[in-house]
Amino acid sequence: MLWLSKDLRNLKIRDQFNIFIVLIFILGISLSGTALSKVLEHRAEEELTSKAMVLFVTMNSVRNYTQKQINPLLAPKLETESAFIPQAIPTYSVREVFESIRSNEEYKNFFYKDAAPNPTNLRDKADEFETQLVKEFRTHPQIKQRSDFRNLPEGKVFYIARPFAVREQRCLECHSTPEIAPKSLLASYGSEHGFGWKLNEIIAAQVLYVPAEEIFHSVRRSFYLVMGVVICVFVIIISTINLLLKKAVLQRIRKIAKTAHEVSTGNMDAEFTEKSQDEIGALAVAFNRMKSSLEISMKLLSHKK
Ligand code: HEC
Repeated sequence: MLWLSKDLRNLKIRDQFNIFIVLIFILGISLSGTALSKVLEHRAEEELTSKAMVLFVTMNSVRNYTQKQINPLLAPKLETESAFIPQAIPTYSVREVFESIRSNEEYKNFFYKDAAPNPTNLRDKADEFETQLVKEFRTHPQIKQRSDFRNLPEGKVFYIARPFAVREQRCLECHSTPEIAPKSLLASYGSEHGFGWKLNEIIAAQVLYVPAEEIFHSVRRSFYLVMGVVICVFVIIISTINLLLKKAVLQRIRKIAKTAHEVSTGNMDAEFTEKSQDEIGALAVAFNRMKSSLEISMKLLSHKK
């Protein structure tokens, strides 16, 4: 540190000043940049979560409605009809309602899935990532919700996932063994998958995907905009300080130095012309006084000779 300060002192005042200001500038920019990006990311995540939560609640309402009002109407038919009536199943209605939401341009990249590693309908089959989520929910039953980002070929998405457990005995009528399942179910879905579930077992994860790419673009845009403004302000401050330093201090000191140099080489007509009342003005007054004393001393000396 000592060598640095010694070296620094050999620099011109303006350069010393600028080195410090630029250091502060870099520190300020990196601190405010980090803080800003954290805040913006947090805001983006909050926005994504609130979007996802609204849809999640809607989907669960559709599920409850199907379960409570549609299923009882259609249940008798499941035994008599030859083809299964999927409209009786909450997962089916939720998925269909969501497909309808997705037909809106604004929601086309949203996605909902009751992702099950061993599903009745193969379109609900959990991919590797979702299977991991189900495993995690099984090993940590205290986790009630998980949310994070996931990279898909279509881009970055934000997901909210919740464990889905078999809580009622009647679910096992269709999901335990093919022998006791309605014939129509076997006819429509086969007997290979969607069986062997147990009471209270977590058999799926409800996963809702919200596209995150766009929101991160807008976060990045805001980040660059704010940082651009901050950098401009800093540059203006640095230039103003430099200008002020030059006009208010350096030029005046240089002028005094030049006059002092002239006086030292014998030009006693040179005057320290600083008129202001500030410190540099006081310096000029002191120099003028010193010049007068010098003149008097020199006169005295020449008289003595
Ligand atoms: C009458 C038979 C029947 C009953 C009772 C039933 N399900 Fe299903 N379940 C199905 C069928 C059929 C599907 C596939 C629907 C589709 O085509 O999307 C399904 C799908 C699911 C899925 C989505 C994953 C998959 O397997 O495709 C979950 C999760 C699920 N059921 C959970 C439950 C729970 C929990 C209960 C009890 C509240 C329950 N089911 C009761 C027949 C049934």
